[in-house]
Amino acid sequence: MQIEYEEHGDGIPLVLLHAFPLSRRMWEPQKKALERVNVRLILPDLRGFGETKSTADTNTMDEMAGDVADLLDRLEIEKAIIGGLSMGGYVTFALYRLDPGRFSGLILCDTACAADTDEKRENRFKLIKKIEGSGSQALIENMLPMLVGKYTKENNPELYADLEQRFAGTDPQAAIGALRGMAARNDSCDLLSEIDVPTLFIFGEEDELTDADMGRKMHSRVNGSELCLIRNAGHYSNLEQPEQFDQAIVSFINRQ
Ligand code: MLT
Repeated sequence: MQIEYEEHGDGIPLVLLHAFPLSRRMWEPQKKALERVNVRLILPDLRGFGETKSTADTNTMDEMAGDVADLLDRLEIEKAIIGGLSMGGYVTFALYRLDPGRFSGLILCDTACAADTDEKRENRFKLIKKIEGSGSQALIENMLPMLVGKYTKENNPELYADLEQRFAGTDPQAAIGALRGMAARNDSCDLLSEIDVPTLFIFGEEDELTDADMGRKMHSRVNGSELCLIRNAGHYSNLEQPEQFDQAIVSFINRQ
């Protein structure tokens, strides 16, 4: 599928893949910081999200990864630093399995290499039923409170309200397609020991979904990788604490 995207600047290609159920707009706070470094920033909308429409029943991580590889072909980019947050990280792992030669670096944020447990899968299917009943509103009630950190809830109600609006604006069919895709995804933990490009892990210290311990474990299995923990941030570390997040990415890129 031909996916929509935007790009800014020129220099080292850097692809950032968004989380569920957001779109490339989630990287808005990073655009300014990344203007200061020598990168060609590429921000795709994964299947079903933002401007990339999809009516499929299921959108797998592998399909989304294939779309990103096709986009890089279209842009005649041989290698890039590729990263993603949460679902964007699952897609990054899928792309690494598909074509490790594409990567000149990896940035994995608030994500997990493991496949869903049976319990997680069950919860996704329950959430799908709720979305079928009450639309994307179900995402706000059932997911958002767990995703946003305590500090943000107490100190940044504007961001919480903005995320509620973004969740409400998600196409219910796209949310269902991606939830099925995430439930079906492969375990990628076997890839960690094979990764041989510079790798940065970024995790919000208050992330309850993909917690900092998960970040520490993955970091210990990737040779020479770096781990940055973001203070006062939950799962959406780039939105909750953009300054700390930007600093981590910018200093990683400056060292490449
Ligand atoms: C995300 O933030 O992309 C998703 O919540 C990840 C997930 O549900 O596993």
